[in-house]
Amino acid sequence: MLETQLFDAAKRVRLNAYVPYSNFPVACAIQSESGKIYLGVNVDNASYPETACAEANAIGAMISAGERQVKAVLVLGGHPGSGVLCTPCGGCRQRLGEFSQSDTPVYVCSDEGVQEVVTFGELLPRAFGPSNLEQK
Ligand code: THU
Repeated sequence: MLETQLFDAAKRVRLNAYVPYSNFPVACAIQSESGKIYLGVNVDNASYPETACAEANAIGAMISAGERQVKAVLVLGGHPGSGVLCTPCGGCRQRLGEFSQSDTPVYVCSDEGVQEVVTFGELLPRAFGPSNLEQK
């Protein structure tokens, strides 16, 4: 099952998050149009604003592989057992929007598995995206 595949991959890779300052590991798993799964973790930086979110890095992996369409997104954030749910931050909603549709599912997870399924459109209603820049 897709959700389980995405979740297992995210849980595994979250161990690699580089979080010496935030102490808040996040993993993102993206399924692209081809069905492949791309992963990202957050990478803190001593200059705090230069931190890169897990979603941004997963998008980067997908784009580097030559793909352009996000079909599903899963986010797993926080320490194992903390019960925290991490939804994509505002900046990452905008980043995801570049390659998503309003009905693209976003799976929000705790350590136990998927807790909520929302659509991209629910996370970022009336998004500004590529279509806003199309020449009429
Ligand atoms: N973080 C993400 O990776 N994705 C989000 O959507 C929310 C926040 C990271 C950034 C930073 O490393 C830590 O979580 C705390 O903000």
